[in-house]
Amino acid sequence: MTHSDPKTAHDAAVLLRAGQLCAFPTETVYGLGADATNADAVLAIYETKGRPRFNPLIIHCADLAMAETLAEFSPLARRVATLWPGPLTLVLPVRPGNGLAGIAMAGLDSVAIRIPDHPVALAVLAAVGRPLAAPSANPSGRLSPTTAEQVRIGFAGRVPVLDGGPCRAGVESTIVRIEGDKLVQLRAGAMSRNAIEQALGVKVAVAPKGTALAAPGMLASHYAPRALLRLNSTPRAGEAYLAFGNGPEFAGPVRNLSPRGDLHEAARNLFAMLHELDAAGADMIAVAPIPDEGLGEAINDRLLRAAAPRD
Ligand code: TXA
Ligand code: MG
Repeated sequence: MTHSDPKTAHDAAVLLRAGQLCAFPTETVYGLGADATNADAVLAIYETKGRPRFNPLIIHCADLAMAETLAEFSPLARRVATLWPGPLTLVLPVRPGNGLAGIAMAGLDSVAIRIPDHPVALAVLAAVGRPLAAPSANPSGRLSPTTAEQVRIGFAGRVPVLDGGPCRAGVESTIVRIEGDKLVQLRAGAMSRNAIEQALGVKVAVAPKGTALAAPGMLASHYAPRALLRLNSTPRAGEAYLAFGNGPEFAGPVRNLSPRGDLHEAARNLFAMLHELDAAGADMIAVAPIPDEGLGEAINDRLLRAAAPRD
């Protein structure tokens, strides 16, 4: 199949309105977009990614008015929505008759929504005028893409990509659900719990382990490079090394997530550097310890999944 990549948000919107897939940049990672009201288009996302159908998609909206047509917003939900646009996904009760293809929500009675904070994503959404389902634009189980080039490599050029440069956050959005008067984090992500608590003055609890299927995409092995990962360690001969801060000198393939130990910089570099070390051909990537605070929570979550046993 041949196609030419869209050059503008308008070009991308023409494809999406016609029911085709198109990858586009967000502030977190590149998304594989489809018109969320078109069941065939949404089905094509699952098929293209090889994604299990029980794993629902995040629905991206142009603005709050669009989001409110899709879900029931409680007063607390409206407060959380003041953090939009941003790398925060809110799981809310579905509003009946909202027009979304049921398969986008995998048949659940809740829907995960966010308004992305990226000018290109917002321009595409505004031009389409409909909500867009958009999981990360990678084959299921693989590393998420933070550049258009990684999307092209991941899908072997089969998906049109709107190039908006590298993503600035580098890890996916934080996912929260509302329970009573508190928030429960289902997936650590680009907005730290601390940042959410400070902005809203609302406690953010962490979903207990084992309830991971509350966010059904949280399969143990995920975000996996081809190489195996050994966490909290130093490299041996023949391996590659993903360092953080002041690491030991190493002669093999090495990338440093953030020489100055900055977790924002580390998050932004995480997937791109794993892609690069993978391409360098080592069978094992040794990964330095990362502090488990702030954005470190999301980084360590992704690293644990990348290191998890595979089928
Ligand atoms: O940053 C992001 O969130 C990126 C960009 C493209 O926006 N998107 C993304 O989508 O990471 P995806 O499909 O890779 O992850 C969606 C996650 C999955 O873990 C899924 O299980 C969860 O959202 N999810 C979707 N609907 C849900 C629901 N109703 N309840 C709980 N979790 C849900
Ligand atoms: Mg994903």
